[in-house]
Amino acid sequence: MSSPLIIALDLNNKEALKLAKKLDPKDCNLKVGSQLFTSGGPEIILKLKDLGFNIFLDLKFHDIPNTVNQAVRSCLDLGIWMLNVHASGGAEMLQASTLPLKDKKQKPILIGVTVLTSLDEASLEEVGIKKNLKNQVISLSKLCQKNGLDGVVCSAKEIKPLRRELGNEFILVTPGIRKNQSVDDQKRFATPVAAIESGADYIVLGREVIFSKDPSLEIKEILEDISKIN
Ligand code: C5P
Repeated sequence: MSSPLIIALDLNNKEALKLAKKLDPKDCNLKVGSQLFTSGGPEIILKLKDLGFNIFLDLKFHDIPNTVNQAVRSCLDLGIWMLNVHASGGAEMLQASTLPLKDKKQKPILIGVTVLTSLDEASLEEVGIKKNLKNQVISLSKLCQKNGLDGVVCSAKEIKPLRRELGNEFILVTPGIRKNQSVDDQKRFATPVAAIESGADYIVLGREVIFSKDPSLEIKEILEDISKIN
C-alpha cells in the first residue's frame, strides 16, 4: 500500500523537479496537474517516475466520450498510477474512460471528480445546480461507481456519507487539506488527521507543503500525526 499522501506539484517544470528531488517516494505520491503538465509535458512525468514516485495525472478530462477514451488510452503509455475525469461528463463519457483499462494487468486507478473543493452551494447555484451540495456529490459518486470507476475526488466533509453509500472499497481522494483556517480558494477544507479519520484513502496537499520552509519535514510531520490515529 502506498503512502496516503499525494503532493500536488503545482509548480513549473524546473521548480517541480527541484522539489521532487528533496522528497522521499516512500513518504508520498506526486500529483501532476494542468500547470505542471502544460509546463513540463509528458517528459516531466517520466522524470518524476525515474525518481521512484507514483504519479497521479490530474488533468480532469471532461469532453465527448470518444475524446476522453483516447486521452485515457494515451495515459497508459505514460505508466501513471492514478488519473481522473469529471463525473459531470455523464455516464457515457465515464464508461468510455474505463474501456482502455479493461484487461490491463497494471492499470492506473481511475477517479471521478465530483464537485471541486473550491466550490460551495452558492457557487453551484451560479452554474445552475440547485441540488444540495452533499447530495450532488453523492449522486455523482454513485454515477462513477455504477460506470466502473475506482473512486472519486471529494471534500473531507462528504467522506462519511459517501462511505455509507458506496462502501469501503471505493477509493476516496480528498483535496482541500489545511492545517488551520483556509486562507485561499478552498472552501470545503479539513485537517490531514480529520480527513484520514473520516475515512479518506488519500489526501492531496498542495500549497501548504510545497511553499513551506521544509516540505520534506512537513510531510514527515503529517505522516507522524496520521500514524497516531487509532
Ligand atoms: O494548494 P492546494 O492544497 O489547495 O491544492 C489542491 C490540489 O488539488 C490542486 O492541485 C487542485 O487542482 C487539486 N484539486 C482540488 N479539488 C478537486 C480536485 C483537485 O483542489 N476537486
